[in-house]
Amino acid sequence: MSDLTDEIQRRRTFAIISHPDAGKTTLTEKLLLFGGAIHIAGAVKSNKIKKTATSDWMEIEKQRGISVATSVMGFNYGDYKINILDTPGHQDFAEDTYRTLTAVDSVIIVVDVAKGVEQQTRKLMEVCRMRSTPVIIFVNKLDREGRDPFDILDELEAELKISVRPLSWPINIGQHFKGVYNIYEHSLDLFTPDKQKVSERVEIDNVDDPRIDQAVGEADAAKLREDLELIEGVYPDFDRESYLQGKVAPVFFGSALNTFGVKELLDCFVEIAPSPRPVDAIERRINPDEPNFSGFVFKIHANMDPNHRSCIAFVKICSGKFERNAVYRNVRTGKTLKFSAPTAFMAQRKSIVDEAWPGDIVGIPDTGNFKIGDTVTAGEEIHFRGLPSFSPEMFKYIENTDPMKSKQLEKGVQQLMDEGVAQLFTNQFNGRKIIGTVGQLQFEVIQYRLLHEYGAQVRWEPISLYKACWIESDDAEALAQFRRRKHQFMATDREGRDVFLADSNYVLQMAQSDFPKIRFHFTSEF
Ligand code: G4P
Repeated sequence: MSDLTDEIQRRRTFAIISHPDAGKTTLTEKLLLFGGAIHIAGAVKSNKIKKTATSDWMEIEKQRGISVATSVMGFNYGDYKINILDTPGHQDFAEDTYRTLTAVDSVIIVVDVAKGVEQQTRKLMEVCRMRSTPVIIFVNKLDREGRDPFDILDELEAELKISVRPLSWPINIGQHFKGVYNIYEHSLDLFTPDKQKVSERVEIDNVDDPRIDQAVGEADAAKLREDLELIEGVYPDFDRESYLQGKVAPVFFGSALNTFGVKELLDCFVEIAPSPRPVDAIERRINPDEPNFSGFVFKIHANMDPNHRSCIAFVKICSGKFERNAVYRNVRTGKTLKFSAPTAFMAQRKSIVDEAWPGDIVGIPDTGNFKIGDTVTAGEEIHFRGLPSFSPEMFKYIENTDPMKSKQLEKGVQQLMDEGVAQLFTNQFNGRKIIGTVGQLQFEVIQYRLLHEYGAQVRWEPISLYKACWIESDDAEALAQFRRRKHQFMATDREGRDVFLADSNYVLQMAQSDFPKIRFHFTSEF
């Protein structure tokens, strides 16, 4: 096997997603502990922006700093090279998370056993489903009182709209939690609450082994056998192929805080999770083992220092070997570029690398050459499909309050949109600019950054909108008629596509039923 194939096969690039507080940061930290990337618990800072910080700018800036450092965490685990892509904890930055999900090959979802599936998880799962991303579910906090595990499985299936298959099973929960039976490996791990140490493993032959009774007591052993029988009866055997196709999600139970069930998760993960997969460009499918380098920019992180307006562009490598100082091409602009200081992210450090492989993320210092979604290649004219934009949930008119600075404002807005901070629409009727975001905090960040990085002052004006949807039709006349009828509510996105701004759910539904020939899309990728 060539170096390239070897390197591809040992890579696992994934993201951990959850509703805030389910335990994503804690689980990430424990995975890093196993990988030897950190040595003590508590070393990973949460990049959560606490609720109280909504108007505390220093705090936000600080958080942004932390999130650069922990954006990508790479480490070796056995023969595997693992890349964890971090996603912002705050839901106002969900758009960032959506985009990060385009750069991973699989996902681990963390669910709190007491709270079950929460709103943010449901939304992120939709993104995974759109792309058939394989997901593994970790049900966390078994050391606390929570729901019955069978109820949790039912809820996962119903709420996340995916079949599930438990690969481990808890023995009691909360105060009486005794451990988990590992269905995947047929082993038993006993729970000892300890934030640093790994659990105790009991050697057993199979589920009927009397050593289980000795370890957890006869009553709990009997209950375990009953549960396992039920599981085998209800859920089909685990099929890796269905998992890889995103059709079934294996489920693990544990407690991240107590480092319990985490190693089992990791060991199974490296075995079953996919290595970098082929990626579709508009022109053709790109296989990771093609010799020529290709990749795309999925995230741009602005520098914290307003005096140096440089950014880091995060490039996910899709094929070939990436080499420092090689000549690469930004397909959108046609410019060729040499990257003399690409960084890789090992453990929690950034360091300059000479080479990187498919599945890896390299950070490229940039002064405005890149836009989110750009394709970079060794020369070939291919375009990876645009990263999806989702209909924003909040909208405001952006108004210039300092006419002397309109150039700066224009530039600032353009660059922030290139970074993917929010979405810009231009109303076709009155030419006013509308910014769409996922949360209130983004408006505050934009206003702050425009002032501090570009010297432009803006104010927001309210606009009452329910959703923005991209519209298209095969029938030009129907489209023209729709645009005439809705001319006050038609806007253009940055790519020049038609967007309908519906001011209520009712209006949207009416529009859908009045114009059956028009297709309404809630993401820009269709
Ligand atoms: P997040 O990144 O998904 O938002 O969650 P995070 O890991 O920060 O965990 C949220 C809270 O849940 C933390 O408590 C964390 O200690 C706790 N937690 C995580 N895993 C477990 C678990 O297995 N069992 C129990 N009982 N708790 C768990 P906190 O009080 O908010 O923060 P901290 O002061 O402990 O850092």
